[in-house]
Amino acid sequence: MNAVNRSLLLATCVVSLTLTTACQPPAEASANVGIEPRVMADALHAVMESDRTVYTRNVVNRLTKDQQVIKASEHWKDEPALPLPAQMFRMGAEMVAEKDVGFSYSLLSMWPINKQNTPRTDVEKAGLQFVADNKGQNFYAEESLGGQKYFTAVYADTAVAPACVSCHNEHKDTPKTDFELGDVMGGVVLRIPVGS
Ligand code: HEC
Repeated sequence: MNAVNRSLLLATCVVSLTLTTACQPPAEASANVGIEPRVMADALHAVMESDRTVYTRNVVNRLTKDQQVIKASEHWKDEPALPLPAQMFRMGAEMVAEKDVGFSYSLLSMWPINKQNTPRTDVEKAGLQFVADNKGQNFYAEESLGGQKYFTAVYADTAVAPACVSCHNEHKDTPKTDFELGDVMGGVVLRIPVGS
């Protein structure tokens, strides 16, 4: 075998070795184990956060600010207006609650426009404070509510578009008027029942 053929063979082996390895399922995937609550919470939150950002940037911000073709309003049912991002989020959360899958989530804030979105449990309060003080980090805890144990995760809700900031700062019911782009404005609280 000449040098060229030898290196061709070597290259083929490397490629097929890489492919074989890449195509193997990871060892733990074949084991029959459940998903860690934290892994599940992070995955669910990734979907929620992505949908929320897409809606705010590509629907609300674009149509209300960039193109100015429609407004977004709490009274979207009675007016030609888009539902607010927080209302879209709550409608999804309510539909999930109806499905009775145990897990639940909500959007809360220490500076809520709607007082119903105030943190209530100690874990909610600690979690919202933590994500506001530690940008980029999530908060995880266990809590017992009504005799049921929950894994509770809190994720920062961040001002990802100018519309987040201007609408909140200008709202008549806001207790805070100096939000800036990139600020933590509240948090998503996600609860998964665990054990007993
Ligand atoms: C056009 C106005 C508007 C826009 C845009 C908007 N919000 Fe809100 N937001 C509201 C109103 C009004 C509420 C209260 C809704 C309710 O619960 O009835 C709210 C609720 C919230 C809450 C729950 C706590 C509270 O204030 O009641 C958070 C957190 C929040 N918004 C963050 C954001 C973020 C982050 C963005 C951008 C991704 C955003 N909002 C975009 C008006 C707006």
